[in-house]
Amino acid sequence: MRPLGIALAAALCGPAAAETLTGHGGPVMGIDVDAGGQVATASFDNSVGLWQEGEPHWLEAHEAAVNVVRFAGDDTLLSGADDFDVIRWNLPEGTVERLSGHQGKVMGLSAAGDIIASASWDGTVRLWSGGKARVLTGHDGPVNDVTFAEGGARLLSASADGTVRVWDVAEGTEIRTLVNHGFGINEIVLDEAAGWLAYGAVDGATRIVSPETGEEIADLSAGRRPILALAATPDGEALAVGDGEGFILVAGTADWSVAHDFRATQHGPIWALAFAPDGGTLYAAGLDKAVHTWPLAALGEAEAMPTGNESFLRAPETMSNGERQFQRKCSICHTLTGDGGRRAGPPLAGLFGREAGGVPGYRYSDALEDSRLLWTAETIDALFDVGPDHYLPGTKMPMQRIARPEDRADLVDFLARATATDTPPKETDE
Ligand code: HEC
Repeated sequence: MRPLGIALAAALCGPAAAETLTGHGGPVMGIDVDAGGQVATASFDNSVGLWQEGEPHWLEAHEAAVNVVRFAGDDTLLSGADDFDVIRWNLPEGTVERLSGHQGKVMGLSAAGDIIASASWDGTVRLWSGGKARVLTGHDGPVNDVTFAEGGARLLSASADGTVRVWDVAEGTEIRTLVNHGFGINEIVLDEAAGWLAYGAVDGATRIVSPETGEEIADLSAGRRPILALAATPDGEALAVGDGEGFILVAGTADWSVAHDFRATQHGPIWALAFAPDGGTLYAAGLDKAVHTWPLAALGEAEAMPTGNESFLRAPETMSNGERQFQRKCSICHTLTGDGGRRAGPPLAGLFGREAGGVPGYRYSDALEDSRLLWTAETIDALFDVGPDHYLPGTKMPMQRIARPEDRADLVDFLARATATDTPPKETDE
């Protein structure tokens, strides 16, 4: 054991916190735990984390925020991201297979044998096998989640169109609409053996229905919205629900009574939940980039997880306009110093006078790497005047324009001061 680590975690999160997984540079959007207790995380910082004994190993191949991770057997991890791709990671070999084809972000994944199902905001579900995809169309909106049933013969999908639909996997056809909730459905969890399907929706509804008939079994809605995360213990005895207001509710599935309902974070959403294999520990993530764990038995006394000193949560009136621009529009992807943890974008320390693509070890796009641009007040202004997608076509930086010239000027002034370093910029020609 590492007594010091445990003591630190306890100091941060109160007596009930067991372990905190830190290292991601952006919010954690997805968590999965395999039967051996290995934890995988999907983050806004573009990376997938694989945690052993609390230590991260980074899997880098996505070009944008990662939304979902799923273990599929002993050797395989699946991830889906805002770059529209599904990646199948062969963990022992360290190789990746990229499944491209979706035209929107990938939000949900499920695996049955050799078939992978992916749910995307392009409104489709894809069934991947042998490197090929079959496309299931029919939903009238973004698809948020999928789960296989009947050993892979059926698939359930949940969509922003407010429905859960059932598909025949062999035929690739829709069998029926199981649930028509009216409001968008974000998450589903199925326990076939026990005969229930849980769904969580944008209007705050958390309902338990029969996966056969869609008939309601229980209603766990607590008046908080939206529901963003659902997780069941591996033995199916408890269901955890996380919402946009920062609460976690845990219900026993025997009679659907609420065992715990507590505010897990002062600010912002619970994006992801998962249970350890024995069901005794709950993993949760929100805005503060770390994954927090609690022993289930002690959830009642749990203290809120820290939201950290999140710069984008600081009071706006305490900042200059330039700093406010940076905190709101850039800080989630960039640090100013390089020592503030992993982010989707490169650290901006020493930016002025540096050639584009100059941070050693950062995986730039070819577009940026080959641009031979020099970062100055003028080029940074131009980048956000026309937008990165026009200024550097092919860049990984998201589309974003700052329309008002004063805001760009204030941002550039702030960056010039905040990114100045004592040491000269590193050599960029390698
Ligand atoms: C959602 C994430 C994201 C946001 C928000 C974002 N960036 Fe970026 N930024 C990136 C990524 C990713 C790259 C690398 C692009 C590439 O390789 O094509 C990048 C690259 C850059 C570069 C080039 C750095 C270099 O080393 O050459 C600059 C300058 C930059 N961003 C400034 C900003 C500023 C200023 C803002 C806010 C107005 C901002 N970015 C907002 C993700 C982001």
